[in-house]
Amino acid sequence: METRRCAWLLIALAVCIAGCDALSASEEPEVVQVTVPDGFDPVPIPAFNPLTAAKVELGRQLFSDPILSRTEAVSCASCHEATRFFIDGKPRSIGVEGREGLRNAPSLLNVAYQRLLFWDGGSQTLESQVLAPLENEAEMDLPLDAVLERLMNHPDYPTRFVEVFGEGPSIPTLTQAIAAFERTLVSTGSRYDRFQTGDTQALTTLEREGEALFFGRAQCSTCHSGFLLTNQQFENNGLRPTEADSGRARITLNPQDVGRFKVPSLRNVAWTAPYMHDGRFATLEAVVAHYDAGGEGTQNQHPRIQPLHLSTQEKDALVAFLHTLTDEALIP
Ligand code: HEC
Ligand code: HEC
Repeated sequence: METRRCAWLLIALAVCIAGCDALSASEEPEVVQVTVPDGFDPVPIPAFNPLTAAKVELGRQLFSDPILSRTEAVSCASCHEATRFFIDGKPRSIGVEGREGLRNAPSLLNVAYQRLLFWDGGSQTLESQVLAPLENEAEMDLPLDAVLERLMNHPDYPTRFVEVFGEGPSIPTLTQAIAAFERTLVSTGSRYDRFQTGDTQALTTLEREGEALFFGRAQCSTCHSGFLLTNQQFENNGLRPTEADSGRARITLNPQDVGRFKVPSLRNVAWTAPYMHDGRFATLEAVVAHYDAGGEGTQNQHPRIQPLHLSTQEKDALVAFLHTLTDEALIP
């Protein structure tokens, strides 16, 4: 498992070491950059938390370490599994002692690009986000002082933190290490990318028909636009709401935001079932049927969610197109 994850990182990332000439002369740790192909924005790295190889490696280890949960049985990786596109495959995640949460675990691939985190945008940075699952009683359920105590009493972590940060485990150093690791989780090369950059043979006739519908008559790209196939806004796509989860309104307290959720990226979507904030749809066919029906006519439904009257072939074409968004290097 460990070796596999390392191999995966090597395949998925083109990490280059910047400023190599200067390095030999100075004591500064190597700053790594995540390189991305044309068409992708540069990966945003905040100045206060530069990526270094040792920090990313420490973050990777912390991400997979169950000692960060009360029962020592759940790690970040339990719900964001590296070998399955950083999801858990469950409708709603299961944390310590089998407790079920409210929402579906999103993939963490390309999470560095997300302007706001969580389905409701309730978290602003990858660093501060780390604290939420640690303390959430349906996830890892460990108070932060206990988290730090475990790290400080660990045989290796105190020295590792000092090597990376010049100081021991603390909330800032813990969250910076995990966030640094997460910023390296970039997923690019899909058949759709090859098609975009001029390889017309990369998609079949049916997939091209689906692409034309997605950006044309079906109007999916009203919300699923740009290189991540999301406008990163909060929209209401006509799902029947549940009592438990009002979506963006949980944060803004604005009644017009009831039932609005963050538009998810559709990269790798064929591998990240089940779908929607509560995992209510098991398949892409069910998702397309939802949009074809014009949603459920809910309060605050976006006006572009209208009956589409797609033929069977057109629905198949849309699903086929969604399958072309997979980064094939990540298929287990
Ligand atoms: C019990 C399962 C579980 C565990 C453990 C867990 N997560 Fe998550 N994660 C989720 C769920 C569910 C969501 C969506 C929550 C929401 O939107 O309210 C999520 C959301 C996220 C997001 C936001 C992604 C986005 O696109 O908005 C990040 C980042 C993240 N988790 C990182 C972590 C890290 C780091 C850890 C460990 C410290 C962790 N998770 C532990 C289930 C889990
Ligand atoms: C009005 C904006 C909007 C339009 C138009 C739209 N979507 Fe969405 N889409 C969303 C939102 C918002 C979600 C998440 C909703 C939720 O979880 O409650 C979503 C979720 C999805 C998901 C699930 C992804 C996941 O990881 O769970 C898929 C697949 C999807 N849309 C495909 C499509 C397709 C195909 C079309 C065109 C037929 C389309 N969307 C049109 C806003 C939109």
